[in-house]
Amino acid sequence: MIIAPSLLAANFTRLGREVERVKAARADWLHLDVMDGHFVPNISFGPAVVRSLRPLTKLFFDVHLMCSKPEILLEPFADAGADQINIHVELGHACGPLLWRIKALGKKVGLAVNPPTTITAVLPYLDQIDALLIMTVNPGFGGQSFIFETVPKIQQAYEWRQERGLRYRIGVDGGIDNTTARHCAQAGADTFISGTTLFGSRSLRAAVRKMRALVLADGLPGPKELQEAQ
Ligand code: DX5
Ligand code: ZN
Repeated sequence: MIIAPSLLAANFTRLGREVERVKAARADWLHLDVMDGHFVPNISFGPAVVRSLRPLTKLFFDVHLMCSKPEILLEPFADAGADQINIHVELGHACGPLLWRIKALGKKVGLAVNPPTTITAVLPYLDQIDALLIMTVNPGFGGQSFIFETVPKIQQAYEWRQERGLRYRIGVDGGIDNTTARHCAQAGADTFISGTTLFGSRSLRAAVRKMRALVLADGLPGPKELQEAQ
């Protein structure tokens, strides 16, 4: 189980210290939301910020590109120190080549899907990806309410992974608190992106520990456990 605090909810007046806090909290990944003011109606930060934070930690940097033209951003973010780059399936036919380019840059490959988009849109790419990111809010802003109608998508992604013997991670992003994280874990999610809940807690470390314990208790076996059980 991966717990990934989302930097979008951090205090932007002191991002370096916030990253140190995520590290000290023993979170597994740091999720970095990149918004271009076009794919989503908001702007966050670019590769320069990722580059500045990179020397502070060995944490896995999970970059989520909510951008209409990721083709111009893949190399800059790869160079800046991303470990995984997620693009959106809503980009249509551009996705296949973009996913290959991320892999060619030596980075883990992620594919995100928005709430209104049918989960079948990701089917052609499942054997190409390391992570599927199921958006549980409409992207663009932190602090929104979890959309429960997205839960069947998690179940479907889990079933496909089993049926096809694949190993992609199943992530959820948006409105993840201790309650919604448990619902997602029960549906098959194994990667939990959480901004407002984790950064809003008095102790980030205690919040990460609590969320991890809850989803571990409720979660379904991942591909590794299933293989070992066979
Ligand atoms: C939404 C972003 C999320 C966001 C989650 O556009 O992709 O990663 O930071 O934040 P919370 O946990 O506040 O919903
Ligand atoms: Zn995100």
